[in-house]
Amino acid sequence: MGQKSIKVTAPATVSNCGPGFDIMGFAINTPVEEMIVRLTNKPGIRISKIVGDKNKLPLDVKKNTATVALHHMLARVESKFGVELEIKKKMISGSGLGSSAASAVAAPFALNELLGKPFTKKELMEFALLGEEVASGSIHADNVAPCLLGGFVLIRGYNPLDIIPLAAPKDMFCTILHPQFEIKTSEARKLIRKNFYLHDVITQTGNVAGLVTGLLKNNYELIKRSLHDLIAEPARATLIPGFYEIKEAALSHGSIGCSISGSGPAIFALSKSQEEGIAIGRAMKKVSSKYTKENIVHVSPINRVGPRIIG
Ligand code: HSE
Repeated sequence: MGQKSIKVTAPATVSNCGPGFDIMGFAINTPVEEMIVRLTNKPGIRISKIVGDKNKLPLDVKKNTATVALHHMLARVESKFGVELEIKKKMISGSGLGSSAASAVAAPFALNELLGKPFTKKELMEFALLGEEVASGSIHADNVAPCLLGGFVLIRGYNPLDIIPLAAPKDMFCTILHPQFEIKTSEARKLIRKNFYLHDVITQTGNVAGLVTGLLKNNYELIKRSLHDLIAEPARATLIPGFYEIKEAALSHGSIGCSISGSGPAIFALSKSQEEGIAIGRAMKKVSSKYTKENIVHVSPINRVGPRIIG
């Protein structure tokens, strides 16, 4: 065995992207998850420490998304060694930024590097999805897939899993407003209706197709016309104090589309430059501060690489 430990980052992700509930997502450069993965002589998987999570995440290896993903990975390797993790959370769980997916991606990515890359990205995706399942109670790939692949992705289908990486405009920026409270994905999913009228399905389908086409054609006007959601946003908006006012602030400061990031409470707003992204963030924070005491803003380009080795 060569190298014994590795330090990696995995990016935050914005899932749903407005109309693409459970089928679209993209990665951003900040915030990131940081993780050290060590090979040990003692067999088994352990988490030695988690910092930055306000003691909320489980050290229990059967409940943490990183160790569950590793468990499935190690079941496929002849292993006499053990694996130990140190996790540094820079995005807390329940943020809507794919925190659990970042853990589920970072761990198998890091171990694969230490082992000399025996697994393909597709296999890493399967391990990460099984890890992510313990956090959200369902298999949805719209955080895991962009976290592992970078960029925008479309999940064309789940059975079988069919993930399509999408090109996107090079100068696009994403502003994240993160009001500092927690929403549990499992709870937020219960708010979503199971049945929709045909005319709403038609509108939503048109918007997803328009958004994908707009991304591929670098057409910001089309992206703006298409970034509307009838499924998750109306059901979850009430969970975020001042949501529609914050969204209006983003749009009136030049955003080309704004909605809830995943199940929230983070809100994303796309823009055409860093300067616009910063101005949009300032406007969103000003409004949100009336309702929620602490708000964090991130302005980031689209992350196009996924996880990285940093040490
Ligand atoms: N698509 C999922 C949802 C993502 O909105 O419930 C949750 O992170």
